Amino acid sequence: MEKPFVYGTTVFGDNFTDRKIETKRLKMNFEAGVNTILISPRRTGKTSLVYRAIEQIADPSIKVVMMDIYDCRDEYEFYERFATAIFKGLASKAEQALSLAKSYLSRLSPKISLSPDPSQDFSITLGIGPKTESPDEILNLPEKIAQKRNIDVIVCIDEFQQIGEFPDSVTFQKKARGAWQLQKRVSYCLFGSKKHMMEKLFQDENMPFYHFGDQFFLESIPRQEWIDYIIQRFGTRNMVISKELAGVICDKVELYSSYVQQLAWNVMIEADGEVTEQDVENGYELLLRQSSALFVRQLADLTAYQMNYLKAIDRGVHAGFASAETLEEFRLGSKSNIARIESVLLEKELIDKRADGVYFADPVFAYWFHREYCS
Ligand SMILES: Nc1ncnc2c1ncn2[C@@H]1O[C@H](COP(=O)(O)OP(=O)(O)OP(=O)(O)O)[C@@H](O)[C@H]1O
Ligand SMILES: [Mg+2]
Repeated sequence: MEKPFVYGTTVFGDNFTDRKIETKRLKMNFEAGVNTILISPRRTGKTSLVYRAIEQIADPSIKVVMMDIYDCRDEYEFYERFATAIFKGLASKAEQALSLAKSYLSRLSPKISLSPDPSQDFSITLGIGPKTESPDEILNLPEKIAQKRNIDVIVCIDEFQQIGEFPDSVTFQKKARGAWQLQKRVSYCLFGSKKHMMEKLFQDENMPFYHFGDQFFLESIPRQEWIDYIIQRFGTRNMVISKELAGVICDKVELYSSYVQQLAWNVMIEADGEVTEQDVENGYELLLRQSSALFVRQLADLTAYQMNYLKAIDRGVHAGFASAETLEEFRLGSKSNIARIESVLLEKELIDKRADGVYFADPVFAYWFHREYCS
C-alpha cells in the first residue's frame, strides 16, 4: 500500500507536491544544456526535485547520469565515482558498462561485480589513482561518449560541496571547471545542502566555480500547497483534517519539507478518523522524541561559549554578538571569539546566516533547545 506521508528519502509520484515553477526551470535548463547549481538546507527537497525534473524530460536523446559524492575524500575517489557513474548511467547492462569502460579507459583494467539478484545493481571498480589515467581524460569522459553516440548528457552531482573538503581542493576545482566549461554535449547539475560551503564554491569570485551556471535556492513549499497536500493525503485513508489543523502542522515546523511529512505522519498515527488539536500536539511531542537523540549528538562536543551563543539566539539575539553588552550578558568570551564560534556552528549546520542575522537552522531543534536549555 502506498504510504500517505514519506520523509527522509527522495519522494516521487503522489508524495511529491508543488515545486511546479522550480521543476519547469530545472527541466528547461536540462533540455537547453544549461549548467545548474541548486542550493537548499538539508532535507528540503533538492534530490526529489532533480528526479522530478528528469522524469519530465521528453527527448530520448538526453541521458542523465546521477551520482552522490558525499563520501568522496579526495580527487581520486571523485574520479572513480565520476567515471563509474558515467559508465553505469550510459549503459543499460553490466557487460555494456564494462566494455564502455574498457574502450574509453584503455590503460586501466576495470572490474565488475554483479549482484546475485538479477534485478539488482552492478558495480564497477576502475582503480583510478594518481598514476593511472590523467584527470583530464576522466573529466572529459562524458563529452567523448556523448559526441561519439550523438547524445546529450546531464551529469547530476549530489552533495557537491564535498569537493571543498578535498586536499588541495582549489587545484582540483580549477581542473574540473576548466574541462567542464568547454564541453558541448554535457551539462552539469550540481547540488548540495551545506549552504555556506556551496556559497563559498559558487559565489566567491576568486573561486574556480564562480558563475558556473544558473544558481538557485530552493525556497519552502508554500503553506497553502502543504495544506491541500495534507488534507488530500489524510483523505486517502478516509481520515479528515481541518484546514486549520493542517495549517498548525505547517507552522509548527515552519514549512520545513521533511518535518511537514514526518509530523503529518505522526498525527495520522495518533488520530482516529477526524484529527483533533490534541492529536497534533501528540504528534509534535513524538517528533521531538524522535529527533532528540540526533540533537543531543549535535551538541555533544560544543564548548560553553558555543552553547552560550545558541542561548543568545534563543533569547532573540540575531546580530551584534560582538558588542560589549552581548559578550558580557551571554558570556561569549572576547570579541575575537565570535567568528570562531560561528564557523563551528555553521559547519555543524546548527545555525544559518540570513540577510538580517543569525538564526537556528532547524525549527524543531530551536523548540527542543529552548525547552531543554533555556526554560
Ligand atoms: N516536493 C516535495 N513534496 C513533498 N515532500 C517533499 C518534497 N520535497 C521534499 N519533501 C520532503 O522532504 C524530504 C527530503 O527530501 P529530499 O531528500 O529530496 O531533500 P534533500 O534536500 O535532497 O535532502 P538531503 O539534504 O538530505 O539530501 C522528503 O523525504 C519529503 O518528506
Ligand atoms: Mg538530497
